[in-house]
Amino acid sequence: MKYDIKNLTLDEKLGMLCGTDAWRISTANGKLPEVFLSDGPHGLRMHDKKDPSVVRFATAMPSLSTVANSWDVELARLDGSTIADDCIDNEADVLLAPGVNIKRTPLCGRNFEYFSEDPYLAGSMGKAFIEGVQSKGIGTSLKHYCANNREYDRNSQTSEVDKRTLYEIYLRPFEIAIEAKPWTVMCSYNPINGILASENKKLLKDVLRNDLGFDGMVVSDWGAVRDSARSAKACLDLCMPHNPNALTQLRRALDEGWLTEADVDECVQNILALIEKTQNGDKKTTTTKEERHDIAVKIARECAVLLKNEDNILPLKGGKIIVGGHFHDIPLVGGGGSSTVRTAYNFRPIETEIAERLGDKAEIIPTKYSAWTMNPAIHFMKDFVEDAYSCDAVVVTVGTGYLVESEDFDRTSIRLHPSHEDLILNLAAANENVIVVLHAGSAIDMSPWIDKVKAVLLVGIAGEAGNEAAADILCGRCCPSGKLSETFPLSIYDTPTGLERGNGFYERYSEGVLVGYRWYDTMGYDVLFPFGYGLSYADFEYSDIELTKCGETDYEVSFNVTNVSDVDAKEIAQIYVKDVFTTVERPEKELVAFEKLSLAAGETKRVSAKLGFRAFAYYNTSLDAWHIDNGDFEILVGASSRDIRLKAKLRIELPYGEQYSTR
Ligand code: GLC
Repeated sequence: MKYDIKNLTLDEKLGMLCGTDAWRISTANGKLPEVFLSDGPHGLRMHDKKDPSVVRFATAMPSLSTVANSWDVELARLDGSTIADDCIDNEADVLLAPGVNIKRTPLCGRNFEYFSEDPYLAGSMGKAFIEGVQSKGIGTSLKHYCANNREYDRNSQTSEVDKRTLYEIYLRPFEIAIEAKPWTVMCSYNPINGILASENKKLLKDVLRNDLGFDGMVVSDWGAVRDSARSAKACLDLCMPHNPNALTQLRRALDEGWLTEADVDECVQNILALIEKTQNGDKKTTTTKEERHDIAVKIARECAVLLKNEDNILPLKGGKIIVGGHFHDIPLVGGGGSSTVRTAYNFRPIETEIAERLGDKAEIIPTKYSAWTMNPAIHFMKDFVEDAYSCDAVVVTVGTGYLVESEDFDRTSIRLHPSHEDLILNLAAANENVIVVLHAGSAIDMSPWIDKVKAVLLVGIAGEAGNEAAADILCGRCCPSGKLSETFPLSIYDTPTGLERGNGFYERYSEGVLVGYRWYDTMGYDVLFPFGYGLSYADFEYSDIELTKCGETDYEVSFNVTNVSDVDAKEIAQIYVKDVFTTVERPEKELVAFEKLSLAAGETKRVSAKLGFRAFAYYNTSLDAWHIDNGDFEILVGASSRDIRLKAKLRIELPYGEQYSTR
């Protein structure tokens, strides 16, 4: 170890257990280098080191919920490494990201910061993001550990989760992402089964370190520590931000004897190890600020999901097209709260982007209607609708907004704001060719208007590149290739929790492992758009599935995907496993592998995936281990969770005593 704990006095060690301000770790009276922690998952949000009232400019990347719609781990890695360049330029040492909390209810205000309702997809994308950031010598903070799935009363409402659900759903993304060796894990605000995350030694040490294999430093969420001594005793290493009472709390606990210097040293050693990691000399940016924006466009293009395209109205062919709406001039760059990025990018309205791409094939009619003209919106809407009547097509941009999707509060509905719905409905009454560009980081109930429009392109919360990426796809410069990383239900009442949100003291996760598509598919609910769904300008065929047995619980599944159209495109092939006859409640299917393929027109590629023990196992709390019930299983290959194209069957017959594994 480069920094020897023996050189620190007890007071210096106690001072290390809490930050010196909002973002810095203690330097132990100058004996240690300064380490600066900074948000966030969608780009660097950093308060200037000299003038904290100033937030530095950085590249606003797409939200993680949007990146998840790419289903492309290489893209998540690129996202992380690009943000890391802004960290290097601004001398931030640890990026407080990614969040891998599961999207348990579409109402959670912070869903835009999280990848998915599925633990395997969330963990895989989070792992790649961490690898990307840390490849540049910048640390990460895998958050928020754990079962932080609402913003409502997040500081006090306990998440009451049974052990099997914890391991299979809420810990699983952390388990997968920890394979990337994040330098830190951030504990969440909420209690889990009655004990604050920041004081939950079972979760912070036994589970996180012994079961999930984490070996870095644990930092609290900002303000999540009630008592620094109780947190230190629970193996939470660093309390952030600075807590003026920390030293008093720690000294009192040492004097009373229930906290020992050995406990303090265990935390300090983890902090020293982090500091040492930050002191690697090879932090070099590989992109310019302009290149970072271009990467933001590239990522946003890969994440957009084409949800509807009736009569193949997209890509736009030309003619007289009116373009407007709430986000036509400034896209929804980010959601609200600590992930907000201050971008200096000079946006162009989407109508300008479209006009540039269509050239003299189209006459683009701009409107004055915009979110920023909300008050006089009625007469602007009237103009917009009247002008739309004589056009060949209408492009309207709507969505949620940072006052709807934000940290600190949840949504109370998954419908769009009435002014957005009214705009769509009035335009649809005036013109039969309405194309909706949707800016949102979580599921939207589109029931009032989805049947009245010809196309819907979900851009997500796409950062500073939202308008360019949307225009590229609308005008056919690239083929849409994103697929939903969360189910869009027909109604909030079809979700496992409906409008429920707990009673302020606790919320029982009574749906258990049936989260997201696991719920809708097992309960047999129709949905608006299923998990893993997304259209393309191309069509794909799946064929020739083969299943090779490599071991009692090791199989290799392979199959062909062919682009049967005349446009180059990308397809996301998904592999699910179904336990045909189960002795415990299991979801109808579970995602175990996926791959995004780039296919030229007419091209065929073969996909191959290896499935091991964990692809078939569930967490058995009688054994405290992952366990496989002997019996039949089906391998389901799909273009979405509800568009299964190929199937294969297998039977597992393990001898007694080999049906379980602790990992
Ligand atoms: C916030 C968030 C966390 C963020 C931290 C620092 O409350 O919960 O994600 O990294 O505090 O801003």
